[in-house]
Amino acid sequence: MEAALRLKNVKKMYLDGKFAALNGVSLDVEREEFLIIMGRSGSGKSTLLHIMGCLDTPTDGEVYIGKVKASSLSRDELADFRRKKIGFVFQTFNLIPNLDSLRNVALPLLFEGIEKGEREKKAAKLLESVGLGTKLHNYPNELSGGERQRVAIARALANNPEIIVADEPTGNLDSASAKHVLEIISDLHLKEKKTVVVVTHEQYVADMGERIIYMKDGRISQDGKLRGK
Ligand SMILES: Nc1ncnc2c1ncn2[C@@H]1O[C@H](COP(=O)(O)OP(=O)(O)O)[C@@H](O)[C@H]1O
Ligand SMILES: [Mg+2]
Repeated sequence: MEAALRLKNVKKMYLDGKFAALNGVSLDVEREEFLIIMGRSGSGKSTLLHIMGCLDTPTDGEVYIGKVKASSLSRDELADFRRKKIGFVFQTFNLIPNLDSLRNVALPLLFEGIEKGEREKKAAKLLESVGLGTKLHNYPNELSGGERQRVAIARALANNPEIIVADEPTGNLDSASAKHVLEIISDLHLKEKKTVVVVTHEQYVADMGERIIYMKDGRISQDGKLRGK
């Protein structure tokens, strides 16, 4: 079977081609794998994750999500494809401030043309699954950081994507909230059998994964399985 996600010699250039944020990255992520990405600030982790998550396109090289060559899709096709296949979780949550939890989570379903009653039912169920069944009608500014991130995870799961990518998902959280968020992400891998990719600079987060790649100057400098996994 093909990899969940495959990058072939991916480059991302900035400053009119003078600077390579990614300088030839090739990588296969297997189905149901839990991959951690580490590396110093500026090494290209977010750039890599955005390309893996189809939020951005490479300057050069190929990106496959399953059988689909994402790097050949038009902008609109890519956005559509991403919504179905990939759930993205950001360090800064990126919730819509004037929508309550329920509507934030239901939003991706609206784009899929699912009717209101069904959207809200599904969103409520997802929010319950992340422990927020009592916060359906709270707005983001009425929630703690940890709660906001759990809303964001519920939103990432709305279309039941095969792949979850998270960019420093606990970077803005206190340790208790971080633990809760990590348990949810870990369950997505262990119980829901999702393919999970997490960028982190924290060792205890990295320890949850099965494989770690280290980024350095826009390239993968190390790639290895974690002991005992
Ligand atoms: N839009 C951009 N224009 C120019 N340089 C960028 C842009 N986005 C990122 N970079 C540069 O690319 C490099 C990698 O950035 P990033 O992937 O965000 O690193 P990381 O997430 O590992 O901290 C950095 O040197 C950053 O300054
Ligand atoms: Mg980053």
